[in-house]
Amino acid sequence: MSADSLPAGLPAGTTVAGLLELAERVAREAGVLIETERPALLGVAMTKSSPTDVVTEMDQASEALLRARLAAARPDDGLHGEEQGRRPGSSGLTWVVDPIDGTVNYLYGLPAYAVSVAAVVGDSSVAGGWRPVAGCVHNPASGETWTAGAGLGAYLDGERLQAGPPPVLAQALIATGFGYFSGRRAAQSRVLATLLPRVRDIRRVGCAAMDVCMVATGRVDGYYERGLHAWDLAAAMLVATEAGVAVRGIDGVPAQEHMVVAARPPLVDALVEQLEALGAGADDD
Ligand code: IPD
Ligand code: CA
Repeated sequence: MSADSLPAGLPAGTTVAGLLELAERVAREAGVLIETERPALLGVAMTKSSPTDVVTEMDQASEALLRARLAAARPDDGLHGEEQGRRPGSSGLTWVVDPIDGTVNYLYGLPAYAVSVAAVVGDSSVAGGWRPVAGCVHNPASGETWTAGAGLGAYLDGERLQAGPPPVLAQALIATGFGYFSGRRAAQSRVLATLLPRVRDIRRVGCAAMDVCMVATGRVDGYYERGLHAWDLAAAMLVATEAGVAVRGIDGVPAQEHMVVAARPPLVDALVEQLEALGAGADDD
């Protein structure tokens, strides 16, 4: 990529490749931490939005490490993490991090969780107000690492991601996830009950960042979920879009809390149409 084609909003002297190198380095370091320092009797340190929305001491330790490393490397950038919130910066660039995406899997020893690190321009606190320019989703249990830079493509362990055309909806394998509020889950299960007979099958992996990366990798054909936050989405969204996957919202609302739909065109249009018709974005909490 030439200097002329750098994404708008990057601070002077900053390159996408440099941001990507930093994102991957700190995500891998946090991955080593959560694998090697995991206590033998890992417990729930606290709960957040509901009794099932858990935080372990390793979520907190991983975020502390990410924040320390990113602040040391780029002190003028903002930081926005799931566990410790948002600290604005002055450079126009913010690091959006999920220290463990898939915490329930981590707690149970299921090997589908990831450290997600993204550099975004814009306001990371507003859905649709930010744009990722570099991102890394690293699963320390499997060792798999997805990376993407704006204009540089998307990669899994260094291999460029280029999946073929998607199937029709009736033949599509669709991943989804559920929120932590029982009211929202009741609404999500009603949408799922209607959608399930209309697709090949459904997967619930339990790690939103990996779900979106798996669409980019062709391991599932599409994904949708209501209730995501910037930290679940930022890095994986860039992996998806750089691999030719469309990431959309529904009902004219930007992709994030209201709804995230990811699939290659034209499958994404069929999935959006179904979810809108089923009222999947209706108030539910
Ligand atoms: C959760 C996971 C899960 C998704 C939830 C997310 P967390 O993130 O990504 O798959 O269904 O919406 O909140 O709490 O493990 O970081
Ligand atoms: Ca998390």
